[in-house]
Amino acid sequence: MDLSTQYLGLALKNPIVASSSPLTWELDSALALQQAGAAALIMPSLFEEQIEHEQAQLDRFIHQQSIGHSETDSFHPQLNDYMDYQNKYLNRLKLLKSELDIPLIASLNGISEGGWVQNAQELEEAGADALELNIYYVAANPSETSQQVEQRYIDVFSAIKQRINIPVGVKLTHQFSSIISMVKQLEQAGAAGVSLFNRFYQPDIDLETLQIVPRLELSRSSETLLRIRWIAMLRSHLQLSLAITGGMHTAEDSIKGLLAGADITCMCSALIENGPQHISRVLEQMSLWMMDKEYESVQQLKGSLSYQHAINPAAYERANYLEILDNCSSASGVLV
Ligand SMILES: Cc1cc2nc3c(=O)[nH]c(=O)nc-3n(C[C@H](O)[C@H](O)[C@H](O)COP(=O)(O)O)c2cc1C
Repeated sequence: MDLSTQYLGLALKNPIVASSSPLTWELDSALALQQAGAAALIMPSLFEEQIEHEQAQLDRFIHQQSIGHSETDSFHPQLNDYMDYQNKYLNRLKLLKSELDIPLIASLNGISEGGWVQNAQELEEAGADALELNIYYVAANPSETSQQVEQRYIDVFSAIKQRINIPVGVKLTHQFSSIISMVKQLEQAGAAGVSLFNRFYQPDIDLETLQIVPRLELSRSSETLLRIRWIAMLRSHLQLSLAITGGMHTAEDSIKGLLAGADITCMCSALIENGPQHISRVLEQMSLWMMDKEYESVQQLKGSLSYQHAINPAAYERANYLEILDNCSSASGVLV
C-alpha cells in the first residue's frame, strides 16, 4: 500500500502528522511519534506575545546599559536571561532536527506585523523544513470590518513569507464569512498550504466564583464534519496543500479527510489521550480499509469525494438542510 503524500512541498511517507502539542516538544515523545509512524511533526508555537515581552525587557536592559550604572551591573540580569524563550525554542528545534529523520515544521503564533516576525528567519536558519503560521485572532473590535480582519491575515502572512524561503502554511479558524475567498487570497499571497481548522479555546463562566475561566477541552471526532465540508469545497477550487486538523481521532476520520481532499491529517487530542502508539494503529486500519475498497495509494484516495468528484456535491451545500430537519425525530415521549 502506497501511503505517501505531499504537504507544503514536502514528500511524506504517509498522511498522519502530529500537530503542535507538548508531545512534539519533548525529545522522548517526538521520537516515540516518529517510531509509531508519524510522517512529520509540527512543533508547539513560538508566541508573538512572549517574543514581544522578551524584546521589551531587552530594550530596557540596553537602555539601562547606555545610561551607565556600571557599579550596579552585577545586580542586573545578564543579556542571555532576556533571550531565554526564543533561544530555548531555537535550541529545541536544532535538537529535534538532529535526532529526527522525518520533516520538522516550526510554528509561529501571532496576529500583528511587529518585530516578532523576524523570528521566522531564525527558525529557517535553525533547520525547520517548513513553517506553520497560526493566526489566532479574536475580532473583538466593533469598528473593524471583516475586510480589515481578512487583510490582517494577509499582512501578517506576507510579512513572514517575505523573510524566508521555506514553505509557509497558515493554520486558520473557520470564522470567516467566506472561507474559500480567504484561503484564495492567502494562496495568491504565496501560502503553500492551509491547516483547517484551528480550535478556539473558549472562555467559560465559573458559577461558583463568577470568574471567567479559560477552558481547554480535547476534541471529539464529531468536530471533523465541519472540516470535511470545507476541505471538500476548497479542494475543488484551489491548488495549495490542505491539512485537516481538529477532531481527527480514528482511521475513519483520517480516511474521510483524505477523501474530501486533504493532503495530510493532523492529530493532537487523540495522541494526548492514547499516546504516540495510536498512530501505528491508525495507519494499519487505514491500510486495511484501503485494501478492502481496492485503493492502491493515498494519492488515488485524496479528493476522490471532493465537491468536484462527489456523486451528490450539493450535499456539501445547503441542499439537504430541510431534509435533515424533517427527518430529525425527537426522543420517544417528547411531544412536538
Ligand atoms: C495541550 C495543547 C497544546 C497545543 N499547543 C498548540 C500550539 O502551541 N500551537 C498551535 O498552533 N496549536 C496548538 N494546539 C492545537 C493543536 O495543534 C490542534 O490544532 C488542535 O488541538 C486540534 O486538533 P485535535 O482535534 O487533533 O486536538 C495545542 C493543543 C493542545 C491540546
